[in-house]
Amino acid sequence: MKDIFILGIESSCDETAAAVVKNGREVLSNVISSQIDIHKLYGGVVPEIASRKHMEIVNQVIDEALSTAGKTLDDIDAIAVTYGPGLVGALLVGVATAKAICWAKDIPLVGVHHIEGHISANYIEDKTLEPPFMCLVVSGGHTHLVKVSDYGQYEILGRTRDDAAGEAFDKVARVIELGYPGGPKIDKLAKEGNPEAITFPKAKVNGADLDFSFSGVKTAVLNYVNGCKMKGENYNKADIAASFQKSVTDVLTEHAVAAAKAGGFTKIAMAGGVASNSALRSAMKAACEKEGFELYYPSPILCTDNAAMIACAGYYEYMAGTRHGWDLNAVPNLKLGER
Ligand code: KG4
Ligand code: ZN
Repeated sequence: MKDIFILGIESSCDETAAAVVKNGREVLSNVISSQIDIHKLYGGVVPEIASRKHMEIVNQVIDEALSTAGKTLDDIDAIAVTYGPGLVGALLVGVATAKAICWAKDIPLVGVHHIEGHISANYIEDKTLEPPFMCLVVSGGHTHLVKVSDYGQYEILGRTRDDAAGEAFDKVARVIELGYPGGPKIDKLAKEGNPEAITFPKAKVNGADLDFSFSGVKTAVLNYVNGCKMKGENYNKADIAASFQKSVTDVLTEHAVAAAKAGGFTKIAMAGGVASNSALRSAMKAACEKEGFELYYPSPILCTDNAAMIACAGYYEYMAGTRHGWDLNAVPNLKLGER
């Protein structure tokens, strides 16, 4: 069978990324240009700045992805681009660029859902992984328990009612003045703290066993810190980080295992930026060993936003016959499974 080369483009938030992937699973290049240094000055992503920075660099990033892979646009069978969900102006840069190249080179355009990309990072990491499996998707914008019945077939079994897990990490990091993005900083500091030092509420929703709510634990951290400040007491940032992290990762693990058990799955995968959290990985490993599930998770570079995961998801969409027209638009609140 002929080899299929997909060029992936990702620009939904603050990473401009392009990658070339062969036959869905072999990454020939994975170029990521991060805007973190600019956004951290503001304590979070500024959408208008994000769009402009994507515009400035997207062509360079694509050129680098092609040259690192030793390919030209003439070798590319299709372009896969994230068209939602995400920041509308940021998404538009990737979508418009992909459309222009596809039109000029007369190659197919395949729009990809960002979360489908995150889930697909697992196929790149472990080339033997096949659906069905249960996937815990934990990123800066999303927290979902997704039943992956087949390639391109998804059902959301649980979701957050308020903040995403990564958002909670970022907000708590701001409260204890660690800077942006907070997830990796909390992960690091928590290693020096005691996870049992403070009891923060569990991120649960009464009556919806697989849903999450992170606003309570976030407020509890804020109240704890404000309480200490008012009383003029010192507080231990490492203990706060470790205790907060434990309350979040315990619930994520419990729900992922419960969903996999209820659905009769044998495999659990993790995806999204928070999937690189070391406490979450250890808790998931321990729980999966105990309950007899096979656990999959991508390397940290494939957990956070990248275009290899988009090219991988795009490959399976392409093989299933998905093609988008020149009317493809950025859809900031795109639902998983929508075309
Ligand atoms: O998947 P991602 O790159 O972007 C979205 O699609 O949202 O995820 C970014 C999120 C940020 O909130 C970041 O703080 C969090 O993932 N994150 C982490 C870790 N690394 C990244 N959270 C906890 N622990 C980490 N090690
Ligand atoms: Zn993402």
